[in-house]
Amino acid sequence: MDFRLPATVVPARYDIRLEPDLETATFAGEETIAVSVKESVTEIVLNAAELAILSVAIEGPGGVVVQGSAALDETNERARLLFPAPIAPGEWRLKLRFTGVLNDRLHGFYRSTYTDAAGVAHTLAATQFEATDARRGFPCWDEPTLKAVFGVTLVVPEGLAAVSNTAVVGETPAGPGKKAVAFADTIRMSSYLVAFVVGELVATEPVMVGKTPLRVWCVPGKTRLARFALEIGAFSLDFFERYYGLPYPGDKLDLLAIPDFAAGAMENLGAVTFRETALLVDETAASHSELERVADVVAHELAHMWFGDLVTMTWWNGIWLNEAFATFMELLAVDAWKPEWKRWVTFGVSRAAAMTVDGLESTRPIEFEVLAPRDCEAMFDLLTYEKGASVLRMLEQHLGPEGFRNGVRLYLDRHRFANAETTDLWKALGDAAHQPIPEVMDGWIFKPGYPLVSVEPEGRGLKISQRRFRYLGGEEGAEERWRIPITLRASVKRGFVHKQLLLEAGEVLVPLPASADWVVVNAGGHGFYRVRYAPPLLKKMSGALAKLEPIERFNLLSDGFALAQSGMLTAADYLDLTARFAGETDRNVWTVLTGSLAYVNRAMAAEHRPQLEALVRQRLETAAERLGWEPQPDETELERQLRGDLLRALGTLGNDPATQGRAREVYARYRDDESAVDPNVLPGVIAILAASGGEAEYAEFLGRFKSARTPQEEQRYLYALAGFRQPELLSQTLDRTLNGEVRSQDAPFLIRALLTSVYSREPAWEFVKANWEEMARRYPGSAYRRMWEGITALVSPAWEQDVQGFFTARRIDLGGKTLEQYLEQLRVAVRFQERETAPLAAYLAQATKPKR
Ligand code: BES
Ligand code: ZN
Repeated sequence: MDFRLPATVVPARYDIRLEPDLETATFAGEETIAVSVKESVTEIVLNAAELAILSVAIEGPGGVVVQGSAALDETNERARLLFPAPIAPGEWRLKLRFTGVLNDRLHGFYRSTYTDAAGVAHTLAATQFEATDARRGFPCWDEPTLKAVFGVTLVVPEGLAAVSNTAVVGETPAGPGKKAVAFADTIRMSSYLVAFVVGELVATEPVMVGKTPLRVWCVPGKTRLARFALEIGAFSLDFFERYYGLPYPGDKLDLLAIPDFAAGAMENLGAVTFRETALLVDETAASHSELERVADVVAHELAHMWFGDLVTMTWWNGIWLNEAFATFMELLAVDAWKPEWKRWVTFGVSRAAAMTVDGLESTRPIEFEVLAPRDCEAMFDLLTYEKGASVLRMLEQHLGPEGFRNGVRLYLDRHRFANAETTDLWKALGDAAHQPIPEVMDGWIFKPGYPLVSVEPEGRGLKISQRRFRYLGGEEGAEERWRIPITLRASVKRGFVHKQLLLEAGEVLVPLPASADWVVVNAGGHGFYRVRYAPPLLKKMSGALAKLEPIERFNLLSDGFALAQSGMLTAADYLDLTARFAGETDRNVWTVLTGSLAYVNRAMAAEHRPQLEALVRQRLETAAERLGWEPQPDETELERQLRGDLLRALGTLGNDPATQGRAREVYARYRDDESAVDPNVLPGVIAILAASGGEAEYAEFLGRFKSARTPQEEQRYLYALAGFRQPELLSQTLDRTLNGEVRSQDAPFLIRALLTSVYSREPAWEFVKANWEEMARRYPGSAYRRMWEGITALVSPAWEQDVQGFFTARRIDLGGKTLEQYLEQLRVAVRFQERETAPLAAYLAQATKPKR
């Protein structure tokens, strides 16, 4: 099947009039599409899905009108418009009338519902068109290169707000109780960027950023949660205008919080839509992570106004040009906004997550062939976003920030209002930086995987060599090569020496001064590769941890654990390495450390769990004691963030009774006086109470989930319901994923959490096996796909077999390589378990023996 539309007829402009009816959850539409007919045709093919086309006519030069008919092809999401006589080449106006349903699948033109404080239910209508769902809103040429101007009119009840991509240019009465809201013409843009939102939404006062009014929209009563988003919104809009050297390409900018929303947010030009947690926040009550999430998402979507909206990838294989760039730019903007957040260090967590997938046999290159819509959706993954952003950061560091920025400007300027491919980006960057880009970059974009760089002492220096890193697959890949920009720092008598080189060959010798002591490779941490140090080098380095940058310590642990997962380092050696981190102050480093212990916990027999818990306590205690429970006036932003993480890990993974007891006291205080508990500590306290609590806590958290005052509070209590340990309570949580109490946007992620916890994975797996068809019907596609990631935690040979049998028998296809990757991650974990069960038991017995 060819998924591309024929190029014989192409659109230039759409005039669309839509009339949604929120009560019956339907809509009626009519559109006039100005098209160029390139060669004589009797049939015009465009995309349409779940629409009824009521009438078809085409008006030609000189007023000739030809009536046609429509044949819908639901499988291929197309409509064939058939005409009795040939339509001659030239400019025509195609006129269609159609109807559709405001669906509840959170894609296309859909309905979202919410209940207000008085308990009254409300409905609104919103769109989510990326990647291939504009065709569910109106018949169109739903491919990114077929850019057109959109002139939209929405006919809605007088009392409702109507928002689309551009400013309102007219409002006229349209029958009893209705108004027709007309919007200005858009720029030439792709169909997936069109947006309509209709409902009882309210907006903040606009903030002017240069010439652009910026507003936040939400359901009534929540505008008090919009301030933070407005602030990062205004900052990043200004930041991007300066960085890109091009004005914002729209006439206004609305950020809209939609109660039901499948993704995090969507970059519709001028009408960016968000799930509520990603936009609305009470900054006095939110934790750092919750605030960072809002800042990230807002900055990310605004970065897209240029990268994606003004210049768009030619086809979905190039989606990294949109998403990796928006992610990279998001980081630049947030880092410029709040340098104290050290956003590039935190990005280490995302880079490491991408490496987890990219170390699999079933990985894919960043740029990857895409045909079917399902495969298109599967492209929105860690490889596109996080590996993509990582290699851009690597390139930026290699070229220097200014050369890089000039290349970006050139690229945007050359391709604005049009489409571009990876080669166009290389060309622009190369022209600006006067350097050949493809030689260095192609391996990172068009080849799967990434290198493992091994470092050994050799004579008076180092031997540095490369091969592909693989979790499975053993010695294969020894001959694969990347062009790796390597930075290294060696400690010498007075200070450091820094070296930079481009490793192209299999190995290279790097001389060092005679006084060189320890050395860190991938200094600064931007490289998308892992480093394996020969034992003597590792030993020296782990004695000098305090002299490393946080991101370098992060990579040391992250790479070390990956080596342990792949069998190149024993788990015992890895755990010994973690013992060196008692003085660690960076929360990201702690995230890798506790994450790896949680992984070990999932791979271990339940009878050894108390010993692992004891090890967790050993590793965390010093740092937790140093920080205590109360924020200190002179501490840094990062220390404040770390406290909550450490306490949470101690009270849950470490199952520490003292921490659990204290958490109960702290929560009791919170009940009386909410301001008495630091917002960075509270989420951890809630998680600890769930892990150590029973029915009373469950009932309380469920109630607080239902009456939450902020989206963040709602999420904390919702996910806490997956953190309980009693089977009876877990089974209640499982039921809630399908009984309507949990939104379909959240339920799949709740399931994923339940599959991941060692206390609930067994019942959760049984539940999913019994209910997956209903889940597939009810959950939004993207979230449903990610729910299955939870199977990677079903670590045992028997489970693995069951999981494999389940998918084979049912022929479940999650698009692209998603399922293969989940299954392989499970394979990696089971292999780790098979290899390490006995040695780990011995290690833990020894390490946690009470000291005399
Ligand atoms: N364009 C995406 C949203 C999207 C993803 C639509 C997949 C359709 C399919 C948007 O720009 C995005 O990337 N959103 C992220 C948040 C971002 C901060 C990484 C998301 O939704 O998680
Ligand atoms: Zn994006």
